[in-house]
Amino acid sequence: MRNLRNIGLAAGLALSVSVSALNAYASEPTVPPAPTPFPAEGKIKYVARDSILEFKALPEYHEPDWVTEKYVKTGKLPPVKDRLPKEPLVFKTGNMQDGIGVYGDTMRHVIGGRPEGWNYGAGQTQGWGGIDIGLSECLTRTAPLFQVEAKDTEPLPNLARSWDWSSDGHKLTMHLVEGAKWSDGVPFNADDVMFYWDDEVVDPNVSPLNGATPETFGVGTTLKKIDDYTVEWTFKEAFPKQYLYAMAYGTFCPGPAHILKPQHPKYSKNTYDQFKNAFPPEFMNMPVMGAWVPVEYRADDIIVMRRNPYYWKVDEKGNQLPYLNELQYKLSTWADRDVQAVAGSADFSNLEQPENFVASLKRAAEANAPARLAFGPRLIGYNLRMNFSANGWGNPDERSQAVRELNRNEDFRKAVTMAFDRKALGDSLVKGPFTAIYPGGLSSGTSFYDRDSTVYYPFDLEGAKAELAKAGLKDTDGDGFVNFPAGTAGGKNVEIVMLVNNDYTTDKSLAEGVVGQMEKLGLRVVLNGLNGTQRDASQYSGRFDWLVRRNDQELTSVVQNTEQLAPVGPRTSWNHRAPENGEVDLMPFEKDLVDIVNKFVSTQDNDQRASLMKQFQKISTEHVYNVGLTEYPGALIVNKRFSNIPQGTPIFMFNWAEDSIIRERVFVAADKQAKYELFPEELPGKPGDKGPMD
Ligand code: GLA
Ligand code: CA
Repeated sequence: MRNLRNIGLAAGLALSVSVSALNAYASEPTVPPAPTPFPAEGKIKYVARDSILEFKALPEYHEPDWVTEKYVKTGKLPPVKDRLPKEPLVFKTGNMQDGIGVYGDTMRHVIGGRPEGWNYGAGQTQGWGGIDIGLSECLTRTAPLFQVEAKDTEPLPNLARSWDWSSDGHKLTMHLVEGAKWSDGVPFNADDVMFYWDDEVVDPNVSPLNGATPETFGVGTTLKKIDDYTVEWTFKEAFPKQYLYAMAYGTFCPGPAHILKPQHPKYSKNTYDQFKNAFPPEFMNMPVMGAWVPVEYRADDIIVMRRNPYYWKVDEKGNQLPYLNELQYKLSTWADRDVQAVAGSADFSNLEQPENFVASLKRAAEANAPARLAFGPRLIGYNLRMNFSANGWGNPDERSQAVRELNRNEDFRKAVTMAFDRKALGDSLVKGPFTAIYPGGLSSGTSFYDRDSTVYYPFDLEGAKAELAKAGLKDTDGDGFVNFPAGTAGGKNVEIVMLVNNDYTTDKSLAEGVVGQMEKLGLRVVLNGLNGTQRDASQYSGRFDWLVRRNDQELTSVVQNTEQLAPVGPRTSWNHRAPENGEVDLMPFEKDLVDIVNKFVSTQDNDQRASLMKQFQKISTEHVYNVGLTEYPGALIVNKRFSNIPQGTPIFMFNWAEDSIIRERVFVAADKQAKYELFPEELPGKPGDKGPMD
């Protein structure tokens, strides 16, 4: 993999990296090798943004017969028309792959995560795999934008049914859907939105699960209630349309204020910890705005969710959604999700762990295969991220502080990136055309990717060792590992603790690969493998030197979670945050990245945005802001009995496929329905009650 100098390089790096200044290595920095083409199988059918949904009243509404018979006729529920908003969200038939659906059946999911509780707004995970996506609704929605032409791309309305900008662009008025109700029948309104903002996002003692902070919506941004169905944003910038993406999953999905507020320390005697833990996994029937409500939980076994009788979305015939009566979540492992989905004992998987690719492909190719499997673009990627805080984030001890100083040394980062044989790393996961050389930065599958703006330091172990020496590291005791200089951390071997998520085979394989390859460089890396929940806690509190992390939306869509691209706020970057009450100690190139991201957010011009992202890519890869490990495509696996799965849905882009397929519109044709429902003809009960209503 030793690349000779690429003649096209100078032309390629039109944004002018000072190429001559980089001449020191046997192998010169270049652009990454062109990846083996990997044609996505399902071709996306691109549509106009306004062809997906609208808000309007329909002449009549329908629900499953058993809901009318068992619940409405007995007086347990009001008629469906009174449970819906004045103007529900209507999905247009023309955008539904197989058209209007029928009621019934369940989607059987399998996950590797475990629920901490139902208090998403206070930072609790429900176990991932789309549980929280199925029960939350957000002001806007972005997942379905994968099918919208890029020039037309703006978040879709959702809880915010429409919005208008003031003429100076500093105020954004949002109109909430009127008359929609939580799954327990209590009206949803601006108080829910304000509780989320004031008491969860802005309250520094609360951190919502996906890390929303005030800066997620722009430094200095405020939000206020105008009336029950109107809220008004005020921004420092003019027309920062970018923040409409932050109002989608997972940073602006309000919880039920009528249930949460009485437990919040501001309105009760509770501590913040008691508030966070007030709704443990056993708390059933948590009110939701999403299509399904959790009604059953058995530890390490299953979570069952039943249809929300107050769901506020319909099809054009007036059928209240969802079509599917139930969602099941078997609590197992992520690897088991793939195995069960291809075998037909589960219904859905994002095939994202390359270790399972070959077996899954084989099974899916058989004539009697129960599931469809379609690969999409190369949007799954991993980075090694270094903790760049030298001013105290996570309270480092002397050794860890010394490692952070190294992380901030560019020679050191170059040594690390040059010491990676990325071909070998990729092949250790799966052989074949799947993995590609990924130097870091934006994913090659995003529309903002520009290969010529990507700086790649090819694998060159000798060059890497020279860089390490330049960073002042020598093996002074001859045991094969470099030592800190005398006077730093006792001159001991440099020892780097690397955080890794033990829930995923791929994360562990890559971490082991990193340990092995760093050993050849002379760097000792020690793994700190934790389950997903503990891993996140360590990461958010800065307790790591290095970390292996699967990429998020900021690198796959760029417009979603953009603020996470750089430390634009005290808590927006994954690997560089401020200590409590402190500042982020930005390095000069990080300041450039922050400027670029801020400009990107406040710029409406598409050409300028594209050019800003080229600059971002160049600076972040040239200075090794993060160290790319590998990149590959994922495949969506869905049981063949389901209809309305949009063709070409990527497993990850603006959001995960559980959102992108728009599950509330997915259905099973009558002749294909299976008897998998665990709570047939039952609806959610009262908040906190055990099990469904009977
Ligand atoms: C986990 C899984 C993903 C996806 C998301 C949804 O991260 O690994 O495939 O299901 O949950 O949140
Ligand atoms: Ca040594």
